[in-house]
Amino acid sequence: FDDRKNSFGPNIEIESDWTPFKAKIDAFMGQDTQWRAFPIVGGEKVETGHTHAVLSPYDHSESAGQIDWADTATVTKAIDLAEAAFPAWSARPATERADCLDKMADLMEENYAELMALCHREAGKTIQDSIDEVREAVDFCRYYAQQARSHFATATPYTDFLGQEKHATLNGRGVFTCISPWNFPLAIFTGQVVAALVVGNTVVAKPAEQTSLIAFRAIELMHQAGIPTDVLHLLPGDGATVGAPITSDKRIAGLAFTGSTGTAQLINRTLAARGVAPVPVIAETGGQNAMLVDSTSLPEQVVRDAVRSAFASAGQRCSALRVLFVQEDIANRVIPMIKGAMQEQSVGLPYLHSTDVGPVIDKKAQTMLLEHIEHMTKDAKLIAQAALPSFADKGTYVAPTAFEIASIDQLTDEKFGPILHVVRYKARDLDKIIDTINHSGFGLTLGVHSRNETTCARIASRARVGNLYINRDQVGAVVGVQPFGGQGLSGTGPKAGGPHYLQRFAIEQDL
Ligand code: NAD
Ligand code: ALA
Repeated sequence: FDDRKNSFGPNIEIESDWTPFKAKIDAFMGQDTQWRAFPIVGGEKVETGHTHAVLSPYDHSESAGQIDWADTATVTKAIDLAEAAFPAWSARPATERADCLDKMADLMEENYAELMALCHREAGKTIQDSIDEVREAVDFCRYYAQQARSHFATATPYTDFLGQEKHATLNGRGVFTCISPWNFPLAIFTGQVVAALVVGNTVVAKPAEQTSLIAFRAIELMHQAGIPTDVLHLLPGDGATVGAPITSDKRIAGLAFTGSTGTAQLINRTLAARGVAPVPVIAETGGQNAMLVDSTSLPEQVVRDAVRSAFASAGQRCSALRVLFVQEDIANRVIPMIKGAMQEQSVGLPYLHSTDVGPVIDKKAQTMLLEHIEHMTKDAKLIAQAALPSFADKGTYVAPTAFEIASIDQLTDEKFGPILHVVRYKARDLDKIIDTINHSGFGLTLGVHSRNETTCARIASRARVGNLYINRDQVGAVVGVQPFGGQGLSGTGPKAGGPHYLQRFAIEQDL
């Protein structure tokens, strides 16, 4: 079966007759559509005067709209309201909260054209990535609604050893802070927020500063779906001005974070410095993801899956492949094929069907990636670099690039973009290679290509990663199908879109 399709609710697909879908999206693509977004506190749009323009990553002369960032007074008011709203919201039956999530899923499906246009214009996402983005957000709502009905709607009865009948219930903890990244601006933002809400928490949500317009629309839809306005608040802004104050507030009862490992470490220190009771932190962070390819694998399949894993979404997926290990016996066959496949990659405008790879998110990301390419050009052998379009300097494009390197030790941190590193290895060194990957400290995704079941089992038992993919690509985990999350420097768990996720947002009470 095709496990890349979502399992919860109807799919938004590129159907054989795409024209009516495209026409609806195009209605939001012109410069006359400009979004105006604000912090939303108690249902009110707060004009703070700290206004920032949102420029499209594929063309910096095009604006998608403007966003006001929150200020300190707005942050304090949002937490005040969220704290006051907690008792009533947590007392509501979980089934009612779940109904709001299903309604939110319906509303996102109804508004898919606007949400997809925002994915193009604000985040530079391609058509396929924008479909996947909306679909994953819908899936999170439906899946967590279903989970909440199963695990939170009724108490779990048990009998203790004295024969006394008891009940365990899972309830909200208080005000949850949700901090999300720009690379899944709707899906991860929505997933965190609805998980915290459905359990009975109230929420202050801080989206990434690069992608707050789409978060603003999501919060409007959540309120429309029935989430009370005093329960859920939006606080756009950057890490220093908004992220830090909502993390250091002593009233925060739990925090869900997705982003870089460095920011997660900083947040942990800020929470600890509050000097109050420790709170749960759910951190989903970066990776240094590898794929291991042995001589029994099918080269055509390897190349298809490696290229998709490394370059889909311009490599801006935490799951993306960074280091491809190819057994030396087949390396001279696989590496030229990778070069050929990369030359076929079409880099271009994200809203065109012909485009495989769009821009990277902003100038800062582009500069970091270009510096890495320059550095690697001196220290490694260039395998291939895809062509850039003639208009590339209007936006923030980075050409998909592959290098052959001698060892993974040449890489220090995660390079979040379309750059692949290839390492040849000897069959006898396989265990050592796995140990080296483990020693990086990251443990998010690992791909394996082998037709030898013993090899697959050996790698699976030795590797310390959250998500292991065998004979397929290693990106695009599907809610409820591949629960997603790493270990070590890659995250605290639990896995998003999995059966144990909601419990971590809850507190257990036994009566
Ligand atoms: P980032 O760490 O720069 O920012 C993430 C969020 O944290 C943003 O909202 C940002 O404003 C906020 N932030 C920054 N400093 C803060 C502070 N001091 N206090 C509170 N909040 C602060 O990450 P990014 O560049 O937005 O996202 C890319 C990273 O996210 C990559 O490392 C990627 O691997 C990771 N990621 C991980 C997963 C996963 O599921 N494991 C999923 C997506 C992205
Ligand atoms: N869940 C995302 C993926 O699997 C990060 O690509």
